[in-house]
Amino acid sequence: MTVPVLTIDGPSGAGKGTISRLVAKKLGWNYLDSGSIYRSLAIALLQQSVDLTDESTIVKVAETMDLAFECGDELVVKLNGENITAQLGLESTGNTASIVAALPEVRRVLLQKQQDFRQLAGLVADGRDMGTVVFPDAPYKIYLTASAEERARRRYKQLKEKGIDANLSRLTLDIEERDRRDSERATAPLAMAENAFYIDSSNMSIDAVIEEALNLIR
Ligand code: DC
Repeated sequence: MTVPVLTIDGPSGAGKGTISRLVAKKLGWNYLDSGSIYRSLAIALLQQSVDLTDESTIVKVAETMDLAFECGDELVVKLNGENITAQLGLESTGNTASIVAALPEVRRVLLQKQQDFRQLAGLVADGRDMGTVVFPDAPYKIYLTASAEERARRRYKQLKEKGIDANLSRLTLDIEERDRRDSERATAPLAMAENAFYIDSSNMSIDAVIEEALNLIR
């Protein structure tokens, strides 16, 4: 029996994480936050002060890192036994992840780790290339986006709520830069799968997006 998969791809800050988690919960399916795998690699590289142009060392770190995901109310990620959850959301982590995610060899090494999440009763997979590369045979695919300004505003609000100082125009520039890097890279660029359902969430509530996703599966 093939395990059903709903892929949700789109740019940074489109709300993929929130939507995917809630949809997975409603369906009783597993959840893959593929960005957190690239972010974990970024943390490993930053911890070891690896030169980000040293491709063979980066690939070695990707091959040997031991990642454990504990999905309770909140996702807890352990890297070689150390809880790195608090560092996952940092801007520096996301930017480094975006840089190393452009390396084809890194993507090849991390492919199986992502496909291993496909387990009964189903999987909601969130990322950039879930519907195009990692789970091309997924029966349900969504491309979720929002304007760069709206995504920066949401990120700004999140950071403020956590008491982290942020600058809205800087965040908008960072988001545009990250979009460009994620879309223009040669290997598995951010792109809408041919058979994906397109949702622009700029003016939609979270509940409305969830409803659209559930309708697709129903
Ligand atoms: O979704 P995110 O912001 O946590 O992802 C962080 C970076 O990881 C993103 O800028 C690009 C990379 N990424 C990727 O290349 N492919 C994925 N499936 C998920 C993330």
